[in-house]
Amino acid sequence: MSGLVLNPTLRRTARNLPQIFTSQRLCRISQIPGTLSRYRQKSTMIKTSAFFKTGDDFAEIQASRPDFQRNAKVTFSKPPKPDWKEGDGGNDGGESLKKHHVEIDPYEEGRRASSNYKLLISGIVPRPIALISTKSKDGKAANLAPFSYAQVINHDPPLFTVGFVGSLDKAKDSLKNLTETQECVINIISEHFVEAANATAVNAPYGASEWEISGLHQAPSSLVQAARVKESILSIEGKLVETKEFESRTTPGKKTGVLAIIEGVRFWVREDAVDEEKSVVDLRVLKPISRLGGLAYGRTTDAIEIPRPKF
Ligand SMILES: Cc1cc2nc3c(=O)[nH]c(=O)nc-3n(C[C@H](O)[C@H](O)[C@H](O)COP(=O)(O)O)c2cc1C
Repeated sequence: MSGLVLNPTLRRTARNLPQIFTSQRLCRISQIPGTLSRYRQKSTMIKTSAFFKTGDDFAEIQASRPDFQRNAKVTFSKPPKPDWKEGDGGNDGGESLKKHHVEIDPYEEGRRASSNYKLLISGIVPRPIALISTKSKDGKAANLAPFSYAQVINHDPPLFTVGFVGSLDKAKDSLKNLTETQECVINIISEHFVEAANATAVNAPYGASEWEISGLHQAPSSLVQAARVKESILSIEGKLVETKEFESRTTPGKKTGVLAIIEGVRFWVREDAVDEEKSVVDLRVLKPISRLGGLAYGRTTDAIEIPRPKF
């Protein structure tokens, strides 16, 4: 096992943890920047395979990478074609038009649901991550877990969507708590606690606290029972509006996903990240972490600005 090491007590509570790390090895090698050429030299088997094989050493790959640039500044560059004018189309001189596309039927014969999962999570990027804090109905257990099928979809009222894999029947702990209490807190993940946030994805048994496992700190909320993540620059107290359950296309009758719509009823922004009107969050302080494909997370340190067109 590589990466995160839990103390023995926490490890006992986090049932099945080794399996998680084994399954996390199954990510695309091309999604690990800086490793492809190294691996090409090292193993011809890997050269012909897009996936890690059991036995590959993730710790070794990680060790080969440059250190994290903690003080990386958010920089703004010019857009690719600052003199772009109406009708110009792409900015690559038509290069992309010379390429061909592969048509994929998500349900073509022999195609696994996991291929659609991998394609979507590697192609729809970057995705914001909602680190969701909930409480059990009796108020005794506190739960924390990350979800990247997540988005803000409206501001009046403030509305958010979260997609939970699985059914309401066998709901993930967060969804079970959310439907039973109708409440949660959505916390945005920043660079300064990305490892801890990742640790909350552990499939701990119901009632085991990801707060302890992660070492993150609880801060009181105003309108919901669930705590905010104190480390978080931006947190949103939320009330459940509705859920909608979805059915598998390959196995009719099998429920495979749940959409939750959540209304934001209170915002919390760290004071050094918000302007005087309490209306803008400073990207340089927020330093948000997004989810990419496989095991990869993204930073947002490189921005461009383009004025909105008027007709
Ligand atoms: C960055 C990240 C994003 C994730 N996004 C989702 C998601 O959108 N939907 C989902 O069902 N699981 C997602 N997961 C997996 C859950 O976090 C994981 O199943 C977790 O154990 C659920 O915890 P719970 O049972 O305490 O709610 C994600 C995991 C990670 C690390």
